[in-house]
Amino acid sequence: MNIRIFESEREVDLAAAQYVAGRINEKPDMVLGLPTGGTPEGMYANLAKMVAEKKVSFKTVTTFNLDEYAYYDGTEPQSYRVFMKDRLFDHIDIPNTSYHLPSLPKGRDAQACCLDYENAIKAAGGIDLMVLGMGGNGHIGFNEPGTPFGIGVHKTELTEKTRSDNSRFFASEADVPTAAITMGIGSIMRCRSIIMLVKGAAKADVLAMALSGPVTQAIPASVLQLHPFITVFADSAAAAGLAARR
Ligand code: F6R
Repeated sequence: MNIRIFESEREVDLAAAQYVAGRINEKPDMVLGLPTGGTPEGMYANLAKMVAEKKVSFKTVTTFNLDEYAYYDGTEPQSYRVFMKDRLFDHIDIPNTSYHLPSLPKGRDAQACCLDYENAIKAAGGIDLMVLGMGGNGHIGFNEPGTPFGIGVHKTELTEKTRSDNSRFFASEADVPTAAITMGIGSIMRCRSIIMLVKGAAKADVLAMALSGPVTQAIPASVLQLHPFITVFADSAAAAGLAARR
């Protein structure tokens, strides 16, 4: 595991964007996994700028997002589809048939929707580079503590901690959905390479546990210690607990 520590969140944003752009320039038809949330917003802004400056192109890139709220059809303002269009897809040159998000609309069978998404990733040849954020409880995607490591795309209930963390994107916590469809830890571990971005002092303790503690389902991100090609991009606030634990 590589760990890159930066002074500020802005440096993480820029370094992560440069890394992703570099990987796309090496393999222009790459398959890229993407997260939503506050953490990658700065990286997305930098990538949009790099596309405008013709330093990178997404014309032949295929993307798969990690997750989406259950029973959303992707038009809701808080849906991850709208988030991704607002933050990235509408500002880059990716064809609108080349980006994908899981979807579990009302009335559809959950297992069939999960299988469809798993199969779409397989048909694209698997994910070359997955970009992850990490939740305040160590979740990756919406794989909450206790999720079995081998699991593929699945429907999951969100913990109170995650619903409260995400309530900043909603009018009130009661409006935050209670379930989601997400790539599983098995799906994430099958990605050929991974970068995980972590920012802010609030995640310092859980990051230290994830990277230097035991590999345990209680801290889902700890499974990444077992991945052969992972780099963590952290700002110094998020990395504060690492030296202490090493
Ligand atoms: C979102 C996702 C989540 C977030 C995590 C951190 O697609 O997969 O695991 O990465 O909840 O969220 P932020 O970045 O908002 O702290």
